[in-house]
Amino acid sequence: MIFAALKSIASYVPSSCVSNYDFEKNLDTSHDWIVERTGIHTRFFADSTEETSDLGFYAGKKAIERAGLKPKDIDLVLVGTLSPDFLAMPSTACVIASKLGMENIPAFDISAACTGFIYLLATAKAFIESGMYKNILIIGAEKVSKVLDFEDRSTCVLFGDGAGAAVIGQTQDLQRAILDVHIASDGRYTNLLQTPIKAQNEKQCLKMKGNELFKIAVKTLVADVSHILESNSLQPSDINYFIPHQANLRIINAVADRLHFNSDQIVLAIQKYGNTSSASIPMAMNDLYENKKLKAGDLMLLDAIGGGLTWGSALVRFDGK
Ligand code: ACO
Repeated sequence: MIFAALKSIASYVPSSCVSNYDFEKNLDTSHDWIVERTGIHTRFFADSTEETSDLGFYAGKKAIERAGLKPKDIDLVLVGTLSPDFLAMPSTACVIASKLGMENIPAFDISAACTGFIYLLATAKAFIESGMYKNILIIGAEKVSKVLDFEDRSTCVLFGDGAGAAVIGQTQDLQRAILDVHIASDGRYTNLLQTPIKAQNEKQCLKMKGNELFKIAVKTLVADVSHILESNSLQPSDINYFIPHQANLRIINAVADRLHFNSDQIVLAIQKYGNTSSASIPMAMNDLYENKKLKAGDLMLLDAIGGGLTWGSALVRFDGK
């Protein structure tokens, strides 16, 4: 029997680091407010020469190398993004596939905002386990800064740019497989988080009702994570690393407390990167990997919630080197 497996992880961080103090210069905000309410200290922004596809390209290239593969070995490219290069077409996945020198392979984007990486995992798992493809490159890539309103203090301090990528391949060993992925949505909450289409020449900006979303996020994530653990007969203590979407440290801690994860299990990258939407989980996972903490066979629990609303969770054993 063939199972899907996570063969590699990589990320790309743009060069410009912006601190909370930098925001204080032009905005009615403070380092203390941002740290206390969100846990964020810095975030990185791409410059005008780097598009979302460039960030995704660098992460994707490294993920392919770390899987011991070449671009020609990839059968499908999937990209999760809320900040695509183009409004509706071409997809950012097509642009990245071309930058990687890939020809004649399928490539498409998935729109699930901050839940993007979990949706990518679910889709890749289904394609691998159906036998349709052998190696799939999944990328969460975001230049969120281009859809931020830098006069809206309730959103602009929260987000950062970056990309995370993984190769999903095959294994016959369940101890190295992606055990389960759960994805869901509820379109009744479209008003909580959106980028409305504006008139010509008006900038499109992300709008969020953060306070309402906060309460729904904690409740939904606790229920979702409990469900995926129960349906796989696992306890929180069976998990090596809990890697949640990095939107707010208070959400992460509230969910982790209710599920009794200890601090050694929780993987945090929000202090450094802010909320990088679909890139946040793979960027945090990559830091774990580069710090030499992630070992083959380790069991990771991932969860995320984002615009849609969409949400989901995944149980993933690492099958990389
Ligand atoms: N600096 C200073 N004060 C601020 C700032 C700021 N940057 N932003 C807001 N405030 C003020 C507000 O104006 C408000 O002032 P008032 O009481 O005078 O009206 C006060 O701080 C409290 O505002 P709240 O919105 O109630 O603050 P809250 O504690 O809820 O924190 C936050 C806001 C950080 C946005 C939080 O609600 C949150 O993280 N929500 C969830 C985000 C999330 O999970 N999103 C989903 C994923 S993202 C995606 O899919 C793209």
